[in-house]
Amino acid sequence: MSAVVMDGKALAARIKEHIRVNCTKLPQTPSLAVVLVGDDPASAVYVRNKERDCSECGIACSDYRLPVETTQEELLCLVNRLNRDKRIDGILVQMPLPAHLNGQQVLEAIAPEKDVDAFHPENVGRILLERERYLPCTPAGIMALLREYGIDPAGKHCVVVGRSNIVGKPMAMLLLHADATVTICHSRTPDLREQCRRADILVSAAGRRGLVTADMVKPGAVVIDVAMNRGEDGRLCGDVDYAAVSEKADYITPVPGGVGPMTRAMLMENTYKAALRRLNG
Ligand code: GUN
Repeated sequence: MSAVVMDGKALAARIKEHIRVNCTKLPQTPSLAVVLVGDDPASAVYVRNKERDCSECGIACSDYRLPVETTQEELLCLVNRLNRDKRIDGILVQMPLPAHLNGQQVLEAIAPEKDVDAFHPENVGRILLERERYLPCTPAGIMALLREYGIDPAGKHCVVVGRSNIVGKPMAMLLLHADATVTICHSRTPDLREQCRRADILVSAAGRRGLVTADMVKPGAVVIDVAMNRGEDGRLCGDVDYAAVSEKADYITPVPGGVGPMTRAMLMENTYKAALRRLNG
């Protein structure tokens, strides 16, 4: 039997509509500043999508496009200006930055209360302590998708493939906080296949096309594919061999239309939250 396809696009649309209605009840429009340095085409697409999401939710989006030769000082100066600007609720600096810039220093310069990505060390620490101000967008989007399909991680064995600061590590933390037993695998894990086969919930965020094959999946598992890779034909694809794995898993996320739209919906949610905090003092 074929797995249930977890429709992130549809759920994200419902969440965004809910945010739109809530935004109309605020005395001021929430606002997000998006900073893009250089001309990386993939980043330009992500930023365009975020602008569209803002417009759908009734969130004001101000766009700061800086040339590739921007210096660290210039970028930090812009971030400081946005930190002080009372009209801006959330700040997002699109990653990765050009190689000559220090991304970590830039993320640490963003005021934690405006850090709607939840990348600032203070917000990362808060997540670890279950005292979060904002939830990290991709892991929060995955948790919302699991909830939507009635999947409770409590008592389950979850395997997260990938240990990035953006996805792998915070994903493991949110699953742990939901009472799952969590294994984090990465490029130096010697027995990836065996580890994955033990997963009730398998989250792949490795960014390697074809990494997760059907023999690595336990029958009846939930398979979440976070990756956005390009196939040989230029089409978007994840880490998971979708056709074969959907015959073995009970639930699966498609790429595109699974995790990606949920990540963007969570960014809108964090921006709404940031505005609410400001307006409530
Ligand atoms: N680059 C890829 N994903 C993200 C994200 O979620 N936030 C930011 N700021 N940059 C990214």
